[in-house]
Amino acid sequence: MTFTSTTAAIPEVRATPHHIAIIMDGNGRWARQRMLPRVAGHKRGVESVRAMVRACIERGVEHLTLFAFSSENWRRPAAEVDTLMELFVIALEREVEKLHQNGVRLRIVGDLERFGPRLNKLIADGEALTRNNNRLTLNVAANYGGRWDILQAVNRLLQERGASEPIAEADLASRLCLADTPEPDLFIRTGGEQRISNFLLWQLAYTELYFTETLWPDFNAAALDAAIDSYRKRERRFGRTSEQVTEAMQGAAVAEEKLVKP
Ligand code: IPE
Ligand code: IPE
Ligand code: MG
Repeated sequence: MTFTSTTAAIPEVRATPHHIAIIMDGNGRWARQRMLPRVAGHKRGVESVRAMVRACIERGVEHLTLFAFSSENWRRPAAEVDTLMELFVIALEREVEKLHQNGVRLRIVGDLERFGPRLNKLIADGEALTRNNNRLTLNVAANYGGRWDILQAVNRLLQERGASEPIAEADLASRLCLADTPEPDLFIRTGGEQRISNFLLWQLAYTELYFTETLWPDFNAAALDAAIDSYRKRERRFGRTSEQVTEAMQGAAVAEEKLVKP
């Protein structure tokens, strides 16, 4: 079933969201605060997924989309990536039957090719078993990226229309309106709403988002500085772990020092 897009028609607005999308971030920090290895945080994260599924069913939410692994998370240390894949396998083996009993339809969205045959078989079996359930659809975004999604859609279309060559990410990026401008580092929205509202969807992929209650007429240089201050305090990880970012920064500082004092 294809739903009408919010830019084409106004959807029904209900007190209980039809669809909730969650970026499940912070497992590593959770573990770190408890002096535990990162994997402990990921394991705990699976429990939160279970709780979230239950809560959504109880509240009558029909679609839950969880961001589990981004197309940039491959940048993490191999051991962590392996652990995450192993957890994914275990979760599918243990949970699919329970999801099915609870009327949940499971769908994995993302570029599945990179996952290997074992995971792909579990995914295909889980999706097939639960395909007719309609209490809650659980979309797990794995090896997903918003840009990958746009590209795969465009390429599917080209293929259907008989075009000979697929489009690459760079082909599309270099033809957008702001192709000659770096992607925004900081996004600010005044007036209290916390939404992207169809602004720069492609370009905001890794932009830091800042939402303020301040109304635009009251937004002045001091307010801008507050936003920039908030921006400066953030750690931009681009899919990697905090430890990797710190290491890279230390490496860059050493290189800079060498430049200054040859
Ligand atoms: C989210 O938690 C899980 C994945 C991205 C797989 P993180 O592992 O990113 O946790 P933090 O951000 O390092 O705390
Ligand atoms: C976003 O979290 C992806 C998932 C939760 C799966 P990240 O931890 O990868 O995001 P960044 O790198 O901090 O932006
Ligand atoms: Mg994170």
